[in-house]
Amino acid sequence: WVLLVTAQTPTNIAVIKYWGKRDESLILPINDSISVTLDPAHLCTTTTVSVSPSFDQDRMWLNGKEISLSGGRFQRCLKEIRARASDVEDEKKGIKITKKDWENLHLHISSYNNFPTAAGLASSAAGFACLVFSLAKLMNVKEDLGQLSAIARQGSGSACRSLYGGFVKWIMGKNDDGSDSIAVQLADEKHWDELVIVIAVVSSRQKETSSTSGMRETVETSMLIKHRAKEVVPKRIVEMEEAIKNRDFPSFAHLACADSNQFHAVCMDTSPPIFYMNDTSHRIIGCVEKWNRSEESPQVAYTFDAGPNAVMIARSRKVAALLLQRLLFHFPPNADTDLNSYVIGDKSI
Ligand code: DP6
Repeated sequence: WVLLVTAQTPTNIAVIKYWGKRDESLILPINDSISVTLDPAHLCTTTTVSVSPSFDQDRMWLNGKEISLSGGRFQRCLKEIRARASDVEDEKKGIKITKKDWENLHLHISSYNNFPTAAGLASSAAGFACLVFSLAKLMNVKEDLGQLSAIARQGSGSACRSLYGGFVKWIMGKNDDGSDSIAVQLADEKHWDELVIVIAVVSSRQKETSSTSGMRETVETSMLIKHRAKEVVPKRIVEMEEAIKNRDFPSFAHLACADSNQFHAVCMDTSPPIFYMNDTSHRIIGCVEKWNRSEESPQVAYTFDAGPNAVMIARSRKVAALLLQRLLFHFPPNADTDLNSYVIGDKSI
């Protein structure tokens, strides 16, 4: 027999960024962060986990290619889930797995991303969130989403935020064991559904400096990151929560853009400096800033993760249509830019 579970998890885009760890192995951050979860139809990971007595080892395929499972992060997530496994019974199929059996049974895992892997579109976030969620379902883990988020966090920090839809906050927590470093939902996907996300895939190439090593170098060498984590982010978190609650787009846009820019400033303050954005990214910022200044209030927010792709959040469908028109005019795919496509998605799960 084979027992399997399939789950789909969207990626999330931080509007107040996580950058820097206080504990590398447990993945505990130096500040809280807030994100928006995308619509799963656009950027998501689909994972199928299966178990059978005929499997002689754990194996995993990513986008159809077998990958090694020796990574510490994967093993840690698996260990945490296995430790919480319960009995599973499927009478129709005549399957009975006890809590003890899970220690000796092997898994086959197959995962697909419908977007470029490791190109700064938070593929590890959707990937680990989906892995932890599907394993938890397969093994009948009784923990709630908050507790599962603390496990997904140990796969990749930003993954903890992908377990919820809508707007999500990752609370940094205080405990040394990371038990209070979990994600909570601030508002569900219906709360602010006028917003539309437009992503300019400026480059689908793999980024040069991974988030993990980039943030380690920043914490080791940047002075600015201390100021950011202690003085700037705590205030912004409060303001961002307020802006989301009140659907206050001008404050939301101001905070999201400022936080993205400060995150890239701390990357430049790192030694040697890290450049995630490229010329096209900078020109897109210029274009959005100019448009926002020409209107009574901001129409579009932008944010960039550890890569050159621009994530833009339009305040309404009408604005999203105008934004796309402008982008296609100034940044046509495959012209002088190395920009190759646009992804349009509603926010939310
Ligand atoms: C810039 O979650 O990929 O996207 O915890 O080392 O796996 P690890 O890093 P990761 O970092 C994401 C950084 C970011 C900002 C964010 O998503 O908050």
